[in-house]
Amino acid sequence: MIRIAAVGDVHVDKDVLGRYRPALEELPDRADALLIAGDLTRHGTVEEARCFATEFGGLGVPVVVVLGNHDHQSDLQDAVTGTLTDAGITVLEGSATVLEINGHRLGIAGSKGFGGGFAGACASNFGEREMKNFVGTTEEISARLGEALRSVECDALVALTHYAPVPETLIGEPLEIYPFLGCYQLGQAIDSAPTALALHGHAHHGSERGRTPGGVPVRNVAHPVIKQAYNVYQLLSETVDTELLPA
Ligand SMILES: [Fe+2]
Repeated sequence: MIRIAAVGDVHVDKDVLGRYRPALEELPDRADALLIAGDLTRHGTVEEARCFATEFGGLGVPVVVVLGNHDHQSDLQDAVTGTLTDAGITVLEGSATVLEINGHRLGIAGSKGFGGGFAGACASNFGEREMKNFVGTTEEISARLGEALRSVECDALVALTHYAPVPETLIGEPLEIYPFLGCYQLGQAIDSAPTALALHGHAHHGSERGRTPGGVPVRNVAHPVIKQAYNVYQLLSETVDTELLPA
């Protein structure tokens, strides 16, 4: 069995330092890796990225992340990625990594993802150049996630995004903003590979559990949704969910 801890939308800045750390110190006893589903920082500055690395790095288990929209706010996403990478944190964007855990290969493919909406209420690649650019971004990012997922050779495959791949985990958010919270193309990408679990964040008022049209379990691990430092999910097991009392 592989146990993965996951959380998203931790929005670290100086004033957040120390808030998660006490619970994280116990993480290596409870999980084999930590996956973080974007919005690591508040405004995507290098200083905030350093604070994030201080809070979530050096745990004794691998830490794998994707960036969120907040991590792009200062247009410094490359510098933020570099700061995290220098701290030993793996940052995925249309790419994948494989971790050796308990004799098993855990494959993780990740991307920030993007908005666009879901079946019956989505933006279409038509009309103004601005709209084509918007939906083109949705399609390109989703296609790259699909390629990354299909490229991994592993025993258990996880998709990690910031934006949501299904509307089910958005329930609780205003319907009007669903197109800004995720897109169906991410779900199609996840279903194009033998994905065992899809994790995302971004929807602070959403719901934890959903499923792609292809049947892949989806979990919204945004911190305001899971209400604890991290949730633990298990792979190569009958069910993905575990009961973990709040730390
Ligand atoms: Fe977000």
